[in-house]
Amino acid sequence: MSEALNGLQRSMMCAEVSSAHIGQEVVLMGWVQRRRDHGGLIFIDLRDRTGMVQIVFDPESGADAFGKAERVRNEYVLAAVGKVRPRPEGTVNPNLATGEIEVYISEVRVLAAAKTPPFYIEDGVDVDELVRLKYRYLDLRRPEMQRNLQLRHKVAFAMRDYLNRHGFLEIETPMLGKSTPEGARDYLVPSRVHPGNFYALPQSPQLYKQLLMVSGFDKYFQIARCFRDEDLRADRQPEFTQLDLEMSFIDEVQLQTLMEGMVAEIFDKALGVTIPTPFKRLTWHEAMETYGSDKPDLRFDLPLIDVADLVVDSEFKVFASVAKSGGRVKGINAKGCAKYSRREIDALTAYVAIYGAKGLAWLKVTENGVESSITKFFTPEQLEALCQRMGAEAGDLLLFVADKPAVVADALGHLRCEIAKREGLIDENEFKFCWVVEFPLLEWSEEEKRFTAMHHPFTCPMLEDVQYLDEDPGRVRARAYDMVLNGIELGGGSIRIHSMELQEKMLECLGFTKESAHESFGFLLDAFEYGVPPHGGMAYGLDRMIMLMTGAESIRDVIAFPKTQSAACMLTQAPGEVTDKQLRELSVRVSMQAKADKK
Ligand code: AMO
Ligand code: AMP
Repeated sequence: MSEALNGLQRSMMCAEVSSAHIGQEVVLMGWVQRRRDHGGLIFIDLRDRTGMVQIVFDPESGADAFGKAERVRNEYVLAAVGKVRPRPEGTVNPNLATGEIEVYISEVRVLAAAKTPPFYIEDGVDVDELVRLKYRYLDLRRPEMQRNLQLRHKVAFAMRDYLNRHGFLEIETPMLGKSTPEGARDYLVPSRVHPGNFYALPQSPQLYKQLLMVSGFDKYFQIARCFRDEDLRADRQPEFTQLDLEMSFIDEVQLQTLMEGMVAEIFDKALGVTIPTPFKRLTWHEAMETYGSDKPDLRFDLPLIDVADLVVDSEFKVFASVAKSGGRVKGINAKGCAKYSRREIDALTAYVAIYGAKGLAWLKVTENGVESSITKFFTPEQLEALCQRMGAEAGDLLLFVADKPAVVADALGHLRCEIAKREGLIDENEFKFCWVVEFPLLEWSEEEKRFTAMHHPFTCPMLEDVQYLDEDPGRVRARAYDMVLNGIELGGGSIRIHSMELQEKMLECLGFTKESAHESFGFLLDAFEYGVPPHGGMAYGLDRMIMLMTGAESIRDVIAFPKTQSAACMLTQAPGEVTDKQLRELSVRVSMQAKADKK
């Protein structure tokens, strides 16, 4: 039976009750975490989003309250009226914020009963994630999920506050837009009014925010939902949230300085953590050469060291031939890892194979010299030079990969993270930010046999490189930058092209003709003819930021209602079938094949 509130008003939240309230009457509302029946005495932990407080009943509380307390179960919703009193000596709970007091109840109302939940509402539950997602409303009651979403609110609030103080305007842009080429796959929405035509959900507000700059809004931001139909991973969702922003009349350093200030303020306000600024800046080239990644984790060192010149004349064919043919031979020094067994090294070899490495050569440095099956291919001088270059000391394990530059970077870039994990080199409480700048403007797509934009087609090339756009497009660097935190790309942006000629040229490099460029992006090119300020901006993955701030393992843990790896919602069963009538109205027909495939 559920009882009514009948005007009863909560006086404070559960975890707000403290010794300061001893002797006072309080009115609390919340869920039953746990009930313990000690014969004549009943204890209930009452929970709300702030935490828990112990409430106590005995027959003298009044027969009515005690009788109800005997019948409540976990997750019942209660309103409880009582007096705050200190806990008896020896029963203080130092693990609970409200552990010094309890509330002696005189009146209780059962506002709602509850079925037994499919899992216990507590942190660290060992339940299949699909079950958690199906009962998300219960999963979200767990303290860690409450903390994650509360932090998310704090961060979004701090962002708005900072940007507002710096003169930014929050402006919304459409969800129903036009499908444009480039980028990820679009989510499409059929139009009823325009049979056979489709809207696309935005992958980001990129074009709209640039148009807002043409409109003179000068500084724009939006906490924007974005949609991308791509393969999902732990840090990717089909719909995710960006803090998106754009500014006029700035260059990259001015924008980056403002962004460092924002991030430092957010971490201070939301976590109480001081982030030193300015951040380290690495060019894309440096990041790839030294860390094998365009999003390097700088919480540990383990740099990639080039040894090609030392092995080019060696007898070790693998190294010599790669070094001669313009490939890379690089290594990392796994400090103190000479203790690794053959099996452990085999596991590392299998690990780098995932990233395309054909092998992993190793040298163990011991008090008695260098040990390995490949020492015979090197002269003592060559081994000595290798050890010196690698900064090797007795006890170290040197690991090498020889291959095309991209394979070496990918394999060793991942291996350095793997070694750091195995060796406990990562301080989980540390936040190491950096900027990666001067990205290549274009990258060659083997699949499409053409250049594609590394960031997006509106990113400005570096002025000194514009001259190479025709004869050597791959060499052109962009005025693009990523903010990286602990090995994850937190945000990215660029200074934009703001001349119609250069924009047309860029689209030409991407394989557009003048006509097809105008068909797809004509509205932007037209706008650029009416006075466009120089502008630039960036966007942060809000979900990723919260994931890193909370230490969550997946962005699903910081999104209230996320999708599974297969882009489905376990709670609502979306996506689902629709009626034939709906399809007819939209002039959409589902192929028999699609229906058959589903069955
Ligand atoms: P970009 O595509 O780099 O840039 O996206 C910006 C940031 O959004 C986050 N992100 C994602 N988060 C979760 N799930 C996804 N599927 C996902 N995809 C991206 C990342 C990324 O750094 N319009 C440009 C920005 C600009 O140039 O101003 C853009 O969208 O953290
Ligand atoms: P092999 O001569 O094939 O027995 O290889 C000798 C050692 O070199 C093994 O430890 C291999 O893992 C390693 N190796 C083979 N190819 C490469 C490569 N491309 N880069 C680094 N090490 C390699």
